[in-house]
Amino acid sequence: MSTPSSLASGPEGPDALRPLLDTVLDALSEGARARGGPLPSGGPDAVAARVRAAIGDVLPQTGDPNALHDVVRALAEAAADPSDPFCAAHLHCPPLALATAADLAASALNPSLDSWDQAPGASELEGLVTGALAAEVFGAAASRAAPPRHAPSALITTGGTESNQLALLLAREAHGTGVRLVHGANAHHSLPRAAWLLGLPEPIVVPAPAGTLDPAALDAAMTQLPGPRGSFVVAATAGTTDAGLIDPLPEIAALCAAHGARLHVDAAYGGALLFSDMYRDRLTGLDAADSVTLDLHKLGWQPVAAGLLAVRNPRDLTVLHHRADYLNAEDDTEAGLPDLLGRSLRTSRRPDVLKIAVTLKALGRTGLGRLVDQVCDRARAFAALVHDHPGFELYALPTISTVLFRPAHADDDAVAAVRRRLLTDGRAVLGRARIEGRLWLKATHLNPHTRPDDLAALLKLVEGNTPG
Ligand SMILES: Cc1ncc(COP(=O)(O)O)c(C=O)c1O
Repeated sequence: MSTPSSLASGPEGPDALRPLLDTVLDALSEGARARGGPLPSGGPDAVAARVRAAIGDVLPQTGDPNALHDVVRALAEAAADPSDPFCAAHLHCPPLALATAADLAASALNPSLDSWDQAPGASELEGLVTGALAAEVFGAAASRAAPPRHAPSALITTGGTESNQLALLLAREAHGTGVRLVHGANAHHSLPRAAWLLGLPEPIVVPAPAGTLDPAALDAAMTQLPGPRGSFVVAATAGTTDAGLIDPLPEIAALCAAHGARLHVDAAYGGALLFSDMYRDRLTGLDAADSVTLDLHKLGWQPVAAGLLAVRNPRDLTVLHHRADYLNAEDDTEAGLPDLLGRSLRTSRRPDVLKIAVTLKALGRTGLGRLVDQVCDRARAFAALVHDHPGFELYALPTISTVLFRPAHADDDAVAAVRRRLLTDGRAVLGRARIEGRLWLKATHLNPHTRPDDLAALLKLVEGNTPG
């Protein structure tokens, strides 16, 4: 029996949840059927009007017994569905059913990772999983060689933006407020924004002429402004947002060593290549970084949020230590209660680690690696279709799973128009990227179940909607 005020946790929680889950699952399938494609049709005004009509009064005087069904159904009908093979715009992955089910358990148990007495098991799980993932990033051998207190470590974050912010905060605390961010023109916008937020000097932007940071220009930038060790924090990217390219990490790491610069690698997208025997080599040099951003809600099939910041030297994290008597009183920590506050800048914090832990254990490295290989294969197959089609131009063979392409002979306005037309009709969700002054359509393949026929149909759809 479930009433609107039944609780999800406790011995009766599962009984209260069970019928509600049926309602949710029915509403999800009804909404998806009503949508009938990757995106609701009609464009922003029409979609907003349908959502408003379906929701009605958001705070009625008396409660609506159908609220769960109706609101979930309305949202599902108006959703962008990343599991649709024609939904391939962003680093917005279709979540695994397994991870989503684990996330339900996270909500039901509702541990909050700001103090041990709210999350006794979740805090231990977080320590285990972050340690294992940091070992994956920096090399298991390095982790085993270090005494546990000195082994690489990782923090769970809300995603790449928070991880990049934390990475620059750690750099500032290690090297002072004068530390200057040097990043490629291809870097994610969250990096210069974090420099602004943290009051760091104006970043130096290094050209990325072929989509990846140019080591010679990086060397020149650091040579022209010489300073003591720690004057710079260089941010490289492993998996650029626009093209999925990987900066030359070994050369960049060598330059950082020569100039005494700190190295952060934003591997929000590409980090999961570590799980693949076939693609891991592309991340050679990653283990030389001081910090690495990794996002399992991109290439990792987790519901948002599932971010990580891995650090080679766990002592870097001591600057996050913070005392709040009600959460980590000194006598409590001296008496052995674990202190969780230093693992984040947030206070209340969801156990995002639970879905990650379940996924890692259920799929293993091999299962995850296979999913990575599948999406990379799909991208290569799509690129081959584009390449062989006289009506299209391919930007480059994909490094990970992003393919940039454009209708041959179309100008930028036509490229932008075809994307918007498909969005408005709700028939396909493709991204856009401006590279070397030209606008490209972007297909980010993150669905391992997309079939070859789907790829051909997507290209045909774009062809059929290209003006002229
Ligand atoms: C390379 C890169 N870094 C960081 C981010 C930011 O990640 P999030 O949206 O999870 O904050 C993105 C987002 O696409 C990205 O592509």
